[in-house]
Amino acid sequence: MSEITLPDEFVWGAATAAYQIEGAVREDGRGESIWDRFSHTPGKIANGDTGDVACDHYHLWQQDIELMSQLGLGAYRFSVSWPRVLPHGWGQVNAAGLDFYERLVDGLLAAGIEPWITLYHWDLPVRLDDAGGWTSRDTAKALAEFADVVTNRLGDRVKHWLTVNEPWVISVLGYGLGIHAPGHRSWREAVAAAHHVMLGHGWTVPVIRSHVSESQVGIALNPTTIYPGSDLERDLEASIREDGLRNRLWLDPLAGRDYPEDMVELFGDLMPEIEPGDMEAIAAPIDFLGVNYYSPSYVVDDPGAAPLRVRGVDRPELEHTAMGWIVQPAAFTEQLIRLHTDYNLGPLYITENGAACDDPFPDEGFVADPRRTRYLHDHLEAILEARSAGAPVEGYFAWSLMDNFEWAEGFAKRFGLVHVDFATQQRIIKQSGRWYGRVVEANALVDPAV
Ligand code: FCB
Repeated sequence: MSEITLPDEFVWGAATAAYQIEGAVREDGRGESIWDRFSHTPGKIANGDTGDVACDHYHLWQQDIELMSQLGLGAYRFSVSWPRVLPHGWGQVNAAGLDFYERLVDGLLAAGIEPWITLYHWDLPVRLDDAGGWTSRDTAKALAEFADVVTNRLGDRVKHWLTVNEPWVISVLGYGLGIHAPGHRSWREAVAAAHHVMLGHGWTVPVIRSHVSESQVGIALNPTTIYPGSDLERDLEASIREDGLRNRLWLDPLAGRDYPEDMVELFGDLMPEIEPGDMEAIAAPIDFLGVNYYSPSYVVDDPGAAPLRVRGVDRPELEHTAMGWIVQPAAFTEQLIRLHTDYNLGPLYITENGAACDDPFPDEGFVADPRRTRYLHDHLEAILEARSAGAPVEGYFAWSLMDNFEWAEGFAKRFGLVHVDFATQQRIIKQSGRWYGRVVEANALVDPAV
């Protein structure tokens, strides 16, 4: 088996997001977010789950740092809850909210774990949503204000910052398909949200830099390798359109190339107004690109599915995770090489990668999850291959540190290296977590069978 050693500086971490783990939604002056509202709307989340308590990380954070130490992590990626810091979205600052993140950051640093902070991982304050949410340019301005407040407090200790997490999900799932908060179904809104999220990113980059010396600033995209579902010419064309929406729409403007012409043409009058200076702001140079990667996607032409005229199709003969997502590590290698050769936005950090599995119940403190271990192993191997081909992947964050509130799927889908019993809040490091700890320690891909 391959035992390819990585450079000493290779970053090994795990990731979470505020609403998925913190709980304590009504404590210490936290305001309401669109995910509080959405999860309390009947029918939106599997089993009617909410993030009210989640992993209770707001209270158990010390224990969670201890778990990270046991795994040997060098870095931890988490997000700051916007309404915990700015209950109304902007204006009044909630000191208790900032204090929480300061305790967390200091605890991480004391444990020798580098904090990587995501500013926006989807929990928009409801006041901003009431004023139009991401369909409004003002929300992009508010994001820059949020960044100002957070980096002003933590910028002396935290060097790695991600502006936003997965703009495609925010706009397409939140405003186009209604699967995520705020649950709207309007392509006009989705396209407007896409532009304003990217604008928020662009306006936030210099704000972070102004408070953080030696800052490393990036954005977490979710580039997806797209394949045509058949050999038909029209399905091949559909795959190019889907690649436009999933990948090029975000990567092109970051690389200073404006929005892709085919997308602009396809959206037509759905495009929001782009003001002078917007595209320059979005193209603000970044220090690295965060890559969240899970699965490729197969698509076919579907004239009835406006505006893209594309429909996803399954490949039942391939392996799937419990999310129903196709497992195909070679597609990951392909994506990483493509990101480097087509865009070259600097070093690549895998800011999320992992698998939901139907784990067995813990048996005498042991959770056997060989499929997750296999998934992680094979995707790390895919990264090593991409590195050999020249893609500058310099770090990896497993999604997720622990089982948590998986958005529309609630607690039914478990992604953790650590098992969480949501009734008792007991945590148990899974077999995959123990294996990952060995990988981190060896700084190399370790054969799970050994
Ligand atoms: C990503 C999200 C993350 C998690 C994983 C499974 O899209 O960024 O919060 O839910 O999917």
